[in-house]
Amino acid sequence: MKGLKLLATGRALPSQVLSNEDMSRFVETSDEWIGGRTGIRQRYFCAEGENATTLAIAAAKRAMERSGAAPEEIGCVVVATSSGEYVMPSTASTVHGALGLPEDIPTLDVGAACAGFLYAVEVARGLLLGNGKRCALVIGTEQMSSVLDMTDRTTCVLFGDGAGAAVFALDEEREYVSVQGTRSDPAIRSGCPGITRQVPMTMDGQAVFRFAAAIIPKCVQDLFAKGGKTMDDVDWVVCHQANERILDASIRRLGGKDKFYKNIDRYANTSAASIPIVLDEMNEQGLLKEGQRVVMVGFGGGLTWAGVMLCI
Ligand code: UT7
Repeated sequence: MKGLKLLATGRALPSQVLSNEDMSRFVETSDEWIGGRTGIRQRYFCAEGENATTLAIAAAKRAMERSGAAPEEIGCVVVATSSGEYVMPSTASTVHGALGLPEDIPTLDVGAACAGFLYAVEVARGLLLGNGKRCALVIGTEQMSSVLDMTDRTTCVLFGDGAGAAVFALDEEREYVSVQGTRSDPAIRSGCPGITRQVPMTMDGQAVFRFAAAIIPKCVQDLFAKGGKTMDDVDWVVCHQANERILDASIRRLGGKDKFYKNIDRYANTSAASIPIVLDEMNEQGLLKEGQRVVMVGFGGGLTWAGVMLCI
């Protein structure tokens, strides 16, 4: 089946932590509103000198150190981001240089918003199948604070900055099932960081909520149908962390409450970084064990969605 074994993970957060109380310095809001509607209690924002590139490099170094993989074994670097420091050069090519990886491998950024990390996993697997190398470095990194309008309370309280990285190894024996989809809709939109003041993020929150609450169960059911599995066969469900109420609505539809990991309270919505940050937290706590079946689901701007079911 040529699946992916998860060798190691890493994460990096910026130095500034802002509580919900801190956000009320920028807009009329409260801990009660933000916490009650989303489950968010705090978020990290980049300080001077920190950005999606520096976070990606730090997360990637941790994952590489823990993986035991030699630089020569890395067959591609794929970075998911919608708030990278530059459009060109790609964040992936800068990470590649910072880690001293060999020249004969592809590096690229993937833009699929909050579904980006799982698109990146899919792309990385395809690249490994093509070039015969063993390992892939896959990263989700975001400086969402650079695209936020800090006077718009309907968006600025919801997002945070951070990066997560994973090193995967192609493995003949492991199962791998994936689905992706797109519903073209500008319900979430933001400009490039460099021109952010002209094109800040906008979002039709309720439309995205309805989309997300329907697409997570659909994505999981599609993975189960494709892979011939049910929730009983799964050890963990790792969803993009956008809103605790979206996760709870999905749990009501799918069951498996204790299999869903949540950490949105501490990070807010870190877009493409949220899934690898969850994986790294779970690894740190010893929750992820070799051979477990993990379902991952991402959804967001585009609108895009993606699901991956694999045995780690
Ligand atoms: O990664 C994927 C991207 N995004 C998402 O998944 C987001 C999906 N959507 C959501 O999570 C929710 O729709 C939100 C959290 C964004 C909003 O929650 P809601 O329950 O849908 O609230 P609402 O938009 O219906 O707004 C209710 C009220 C409004 O006031 P009025 O018109 O009832 O007087 C808003 O102006 O809450 C007001 N409001 C706020 N009040 C305090 C909106 N933002 C805030 C705020 N603080 N930050």
